[in-house]
Amino acid sequence: MDIADKLIREHRLTKEEYAELIRAYEDENLAKRLADEAVRLRREIYGDAVYVRGLIEFTNICKNDCLYCGIRKSNPNAERYRLTKEEILDCCVQGYHLGYRTFVLQGGEDGYYTDERLADIVSAIKSKYPDCAVTLSVGERSFESYRLLKSAGADRYLLRHETANVQHYQRLHPPELTLENRMRCLRDLKQLGYQVGAGFMVGSPYQTAECLADDLLLLQEFQPEMAGIGPFIPHHDTEFANEPAGSVELTLFLLSIIRIMLPHVLLPATTALGTLNPVGRERGMLCGANVVMPNLSPVENRKKYELYDNKICTGEEAAECRGCLANRMKSVGFRLVTDRGDYCP
Ligand code: SAM
Ligand code: FES
Repeated sequence: MDIADKLIREHRLTKEEYAELIRAYEDENLAKRLADEAVRLRREIYGDAVYVRGLIEFTNICKNDCLYCGIRKSNPNAERYRLTKEEILDCCVQGYHLGYRTFVLQGGEDGYYTDERLADIVSAIKSKYPDCAVTLSVGERSFESYRLLKSAGADRYLLRHETANVQHYQRLHPPELTLENRMRCLRDLKQLGYQVGAGFMVGSPYQTAECLADDLLLLQEFQPEMAGIGPFIPHHDTEFANEPAGSVELTLFLLSIIRIMLPHVLLPATTALGTLNPVGRERGMLCGANVVMPNLSPVENRKKYELYDNKICTGEEAAECRGCLANRMKSVGFRLVTDRGDYCP
């Protein structure tokens, strides 16, 4: 397909071209061509290294009510928890010992973690582990809040835009959440000098090829350092309980397109991809991904951070997760590395 050639040559397409490419995702030859080019590019820039991010899911309390999310505030069956500063630091001790040099603090939008409390946790991690990067993923906050957290030492921020189409955004979120504010946050984070991650779910309810084309165009224009792309998976306690999960093949196809569009991007093979397919993360590597995010949360809390059904890696100890992922990456010719794994411009 000449659109694929154009993407490979120019690293950018129009919205119509992206939509046409997406509609052809079941063409195996096309998918293979894009995957091969994606892997060629990632090898040229990052070699066979796979960066590891230790994910600490430190609170499942959230003031938001995103319709797809298992820990949304209106789910009365979610067993709520939050970790103390000491518990978070204990996770880092374990993670550091396992060779992790990036810690990702992710959670719901939990008002308990004021700027002061969160900044204190970030600076405690940074002063104990100055050789590590801290990534935050705690949702929408003010410019001033992002500024304070940055000066406390936070290096990166993950905030998926979720969908770049306004109407689609409104169908996935309650009225008080807007794409406009999500984008304001992403721009603020970039302006403040964070390495920023945008991204979206694949196969969320009401999503069309045009929505996905808008998502790709947004990434092309925003040029994030990281892109978080994973399949939507229904959660039994949400109103999307009976919706089908996103397609693994389409997710892989999009990973390849994103690697070609943004050759230097840090691109995780997500836990959601591993949940839908037993070798989803390995296949992600073979489509251009170069990051994995093993869980570092205390085992007793893991099942409670249930964004979607049947989430994997909720029973293992951190060390087991590391060993398992190292073997999985090796099986497809890649190598987990002990490195901060910063963006290579
Ligand atoms: N509260 C923060 C935020 O809004 O960015 C971080 C936590 S939020 C649970 C992290 C991501 O989980 C979201 O950006 C969303 O894309 C993903 N997610 C939530 N529910 C999901 C589902 N049912 N299937 C797949 N991914 C989901
Ligand atoms: Fe807040 Fe999902 S609704 S983390």
